[in-house]
Amino acid sequence: MVKRDDVFRLLLEAGDFISGEALSDKLGVSRAAVWKHVKGLQNEGYTIEAVRNRGYRLLPNGVRQEEVLPYLQTEWLGREYKYLAEVDSTNIAAKSWAEQGAVNGAVVVADLQTQGRGRLGRAWSSPSGTGLWLSLVLRPRLEPERAPQISLTTAVATCAALQALGYQAGIKWPNDIYIDGRKICGMLTEMHGSMESVEWVVVGIGINCLNKDLPPEIQDVATSLALAEPDRPVIRAQVAAELLNHLEKYYTILYEQGFAEIRRVWLANNITLGRRVKISTLNETFFGEALDMKEDGSLLVKREDGGEFTLVTGDVFFA
Ligand code: BTN
Repeated sequence: MVKRDDVFRLLLEAGDFISGEALSDKLGVSRAAVWKHVKGLQNEGYTIEAVRNRGYRLLPNGVRQEEVLPYLQTEWLGREYKYLAEVDSTNIAAKSWAEQGAVNGAVVVADLQTQGRGRLGRAWSSPSGTGLWLSLVLRPRLEPERAPQISLTTAVATCAALQALGYQAGIKWPNDIYIDGRKICGMLTEMHGSMESVEWVVVGIGINCLNKDLPPEIQDVATSLALAEPDRPVIRAQVAAELLNHLEKYYTILYEQGFAEIRRVWLANNITLGRRVKISTLNETFFGEALDMKEDGSLLVKREDGGEFTLVTGDVFFA
């Protein structure tokens, strides 16, 4: 059966206009069927020009594997790649893939998430044609107590990837990425294992890329690549590949050289230390100054009401 993916592949291969007739001949389906799939791709967020007497031309701005591969330089990360036009959450899809034996480095990418999830049970707005909604399956040989280092490493790599693309990105403890004082990217790490070993980790990363209309409730605190630098074209596939390239590099550093090197890069790119912050833990909320990231990745805070506090999990807000 001819699928939307087949039409996509022919449009991508053509690289220019291809007539509806040529598409229907190659696929052995009617021109109406071709048109139906073109519509489906447009609904998925692809720009496909339809010009009389010339046919269809695809402007590749999606995140299918064929679009990402030309930019991908990894050995093991993202070589198993599952693209979903629509999913509840890539983290949910990646977790069930991990349960079924997905290899280390397998990646799930979606164009649209209907139930994108953020930290602490919050929702994560994930409309079609706008962002990079991606989850990785990792099978690291790390003790469970070192699992938070995966999140900090992910932040270091994501920040480096955005910088390589020309954006002035910085890290807010532990792993939010900011541009111009606004959040552009968040991460949700979920783990499965025993007390002795980690079986798999799913790292979900959401980067606002082409979003122009952010939901009202986050407009003042969030941004996207397109909003941050309106004159710089954003190619989502390039953002995805650059992200995977940097993630592989920094996970390899974590495994081979240890966390000290990751901490050094985190410190060099952080926008947290020296700032007045509001800290919110399960038990209390207080103000203070972020002093340092300790060697295990926790945040050392000087409390305004006296004394020091080591934050292992909780929320940090600039105050
Ligand atoms: C946060 O900052 O609250 C974390 C946001 C994480 C969002 C990403 S988008 C891809 C993956 N799938 C999800 O449902 N969540 C993560």
